Amino acid sequence: MKLEVDSVTFKKQKTDLMVLLLDSEMTFCEVKDPQLKKILEQLSKRYSKKEINKEFSSSVTIGKIRHILVLHTSLITSYDIAEKIKILAARAIDHAKDLGFLHINFLLNGRDAPNFIQNVVEGIYLGAYYFDKYRKEKDTFSKKMTVVGSVTSSSLKSCRQQLNRAMLLSECINEARQLVNEPGAEVYPQIFADLARRTGKKHGLRVSVLNERSLKKAGHVGLINVGKGSAHPPRLITLEFRPSKPSKTRLALVGKGITFDTGGISLKPSNRMLEMKGDMAGGAAVLYAMQAIAQLKTSINVLGIIPAAENMPDANAQRPGDILVPKNGKSIQVDNTDAEGRLVMIDGFEKAEEWKATHIIDIATLTGSVVRALGQGYAGIMGNDDNLVKSIIESGKSHGELFWELPLPEEYRNFLKTPYADLNNVGSSYAGAITAGLFLQEFVPEKMNWAHLDIAGPFLFDKPWKYYKAGATGFGLKTFVELCRQLEK
Ligand code: BES
Ligand code: ZN
Ligand code: ZN
Repeated sequence: MKLEVDSVTFKKQKTDLMVLLLDSEMTFCEVKDPQLKKILEQLSKRYSKKEINKEFSSSVTIGKIRHILVLHTSLITSYDIAEKIKILAARAIDHAKDLGFLHINFLLNGRDAPNFIQNVVEGIYLGAYYFDKYRKEKDTFSKKMTVVGSVTSSSLKSCRQQLNRAMLLSECINEARQLVNEPGAEVYPQIFADLARRTGKKHGLRVSVLNERSLKKAGHVGLINVGKGSAHPPRLITLEFRPSKPSKTRLALVGKGITFDTGGISLKPSNRMLEMKGDMAGGAAVLYAMQAIAQLKTSINVLGIIPAAENMPDANAQRPGDILVPKNGKSIQVDNTDAEGRLVMIDGFEKAEEWKATHIIDIATLTGSVVRALGQGYAGIMGNDDNLVKSIIESGKSHGELFWELPLPEEYRNFLKTPYADLNNVGSSYAGAITAGLFLQEFVPEKMNWAHLDIAGPFLFDKPWKYYKAGATGFGLKTFVELCRQLEK
């Protein structure tokens, strides 16, 4: 797909499909053509009276325009205006595909339009992506499409900048989605590590990978134990971004990279196990956030950390009751081998400490419990630093990724008690997302600013959601890139 902005005036427009975004004040586009203006005013009235509840599409010939599609923001009832624009932009592209139109124009010359270019671009890119790698019929059509945003000449420069940034970001998100959508047989720890190496090399990130031997030597017992039952040994992957001038802020992003989670000896039930091919969605968000950060540059030091392992039942697998002792000396009893994410995240925290991080944010498809509490529209967030938690929530909100804070009450730490070790790896049957957070907190290096993101809800949808087609969403990536901008200040 080709995407560009230009400032061609309406009369000179030559296109298969002209898309007009309307809201009650008509602030996105401005139409001077008298014939079209009249149509729009009438439409706008009918939309606000709710006489139309579907997109309005008509074949007209105005100048060299073949077809017009009018989308009113009132068609979308939930979400903020930025998300609405993305959803409508995605719909417009689907519509064009249905009608076989290759050349599409969005008229974005209105007063508010320059603030929403990035949303239009994101909607188009994220909306057009779906996982067709293993299908006989591939989506070749949208690759041939040309989409032009027609903006005013005075806003052209800033719109072009926004376009470039949003395109770059969306491409990273779609790559993350692609990786999460891949079957477990195709993405195992070594493959993940090779991919990180290639990505790092291409974008100037320093990549290091610990294999089983070096993991053992360094005392990273989480990955070793969780990975024991798999034919594919674990890896601890790091990607480092260094700004031109070293910064005091050193942000470590730790992404859960369980390439397949069967549950291990505490085997999961078979329905919905296939979703667990995406149990590395946190890791994928970190990998491609690092790519975006390398491309867009930020002025803070960032380290992406991905503990990658496959959780399998096997003669060599860890057993319920086994005990491991991470570097900080607190012993853990593995009561349930399906609570594996929290074990490998510890190795990530150890790496972050070694790197002398000032902030750690971990992101993981950690608990089914958070999905029961919040549904798929929200990720759970917990942490020990109100400011950090607040900036993550704000960063996410500005990009349509929603977080809801859960508490970390001291008294619930009792749930993690066991007669056999310092900590049990699971709590009681209540508040599973919170006890997982409390467990992680035990391994956060002292005085570290920390936040934990549980993305088990929004990382994957089995039906289309907002502008996403069914499948992985790349959730968290946009939040990280935006957060870096906040931490620069
Ligand atoms: N990867 C799962 C959590 C998960 C569930 C992610 C659904 C995405 C969708 C995690 O490793 C897990 O199995 N957690 C257990 C923890 C329990 C044993 C305490 C869970 O949530 O059931
Ligand atoms: Zn599990
Ligand atoms: Zn898991």
